[in-house]
Amino acid sequence: MAFPTHRPRRLRQTAALRRLVAETRLHPADLILPVFVREGLTEPVAVTSMPGVVQHTQETLRRAAAEAAELGVGGIMLFGIPETRDAVGSASLDPEGVLNRGIRGVKEEVGADVVVMSDLCLDEFTDHGHCGVLTADGVVDNDATLQIYGQMGVAQAEAGADMVGPSGMMDGQVAVIRQALDDAGRQDTAILAYAAKYSSAFYGPFREAVDSQLTGDRKTYQMDPANRREALLEVSLDLDEGADMVMVKPAMSYLDILRDVAEASDVPVSAYQISGEYAMIEAAAANGWIDRDAAVAESVLSIRRAGADTVLTYWATELARWIKEGRL
Ligand code: PBG
Repeated sequence: MAFPTHRPRRLRQTAALRRLVAETRLHPADLILPVFVREGLTEPVAVTSMPGVVQHTQETLRRAAAEAAELGVGGIMLFGIPETRDAVGSASLDPEGVLNRGIRGVKEEVGADVVVMSDLCLDEFTDHGHCGVLTADGVVDNDATLQIYGQMGVAQAEAGADMVGPSGMMDGQVAVIRQALDDAGRQDTAILAYAAKYSSAFYGPFREAVDSQLTGDRKTYQMDPANRREALLEVSLDLDEGADMVMVKPAMSYLDILRDVAEASDVPVSAYQISGEYAMIEAAAANGWIDRDAAVAESVLSIRRAGADTVLTYWATELARWIKEGRL
C-alpha cells in the first residue's frame, strides 16, 4: 500500500492551524457600507427585497454611520432618494438636496474616523431613471451629462464627501469630475471610479431601494457581461483620467474580472457586492437552505481573495461586529 507523501490536511487539523495559515482575512477597515437616505421620511422604511436594509431618515442615517464608525468600518457610501425628480436631476446639485444633506450629516457625525463617500450619478434624481440626461430622441447624452457630473462632484465635495464615486459609466466622467474638483479648489477630494461596471440583472433590489423610475435598461452605457478584455480598457482609461481607486461591480459573477483588474491596477481596487448578491443569500438563508452567517462570510472573503482591497457590502457593519467579537 502506497501512502501519500504530501499531506496538506496536516495544516487543516485545528482551528488554530487554519487561522495561522489563512491567506486572506477580513478586517473592518477594508469594508465600505452602502446606505440609502430618503427625503421626507419621519421613520426609516424597510427595503423588502433586502431584508435588514432600510431607507434612512437623515437622523437614522447618522446613527447608522456612528455605529459603523464605532466598529471600525472603513467607509460609507451614500445614496440619496429625493422627493422630486426632473429630467436633468436638479436635486443632485442643491446643497440642501437629500444626498448633499446626508453627506453633511454623516461627515458631522463621523468626522475623520470613516471615509465618507457619495454616489455620483443621476439615476436617483432623474424622472426617467437613467444615469444621464437624454437628448430629444431619448438617448443618453454622454457629454451633456458630464457637465452635470462635474457640478455634482463639487456639490458633494462641498457637503463634505472625502471621495466621490462616479457610477454612471459615461465616457470621460473621471476626467471631467477631476477637472471640476480641481477648478473648485477641491484637489484633495478623491475619486473612486466605478471603472468596470456591468449591466447586471442583479441590481434589481437596489432599484426598489432607490425607488427607481427606470424603464428599459442601461446597456448603452454599462458593460456587457460577455466582455473581459474591455474591463481592462475601462480601468486604464479611468486611471489615465485620474482615478484614485477603481471598482469592479458586481462582485460575485465577476471575480475573474476582479482578479484581472487587481493584477493590472496600480491603485487600490474595490468590488461592490451588490443588492442582488445580498438578496440571494438572505432569501436562501430565510428558507433554511444555506447557513446565513457562513455564506455571508464566505462570499465577502471570496471577493477579497479574488483581489479586492476593499469591499462594498450591505453586511459591512454586521461583519465588523463579528470580527470584533472574534467570530471570524
Ligand atoms: C447607479 C448605481 C446602481 C447601483 C449602484 N449605483 C444601480 C444601477 O446601475 O442600476 C447598484 C448597487 C446595488 O445593486 O447594490 N447609481
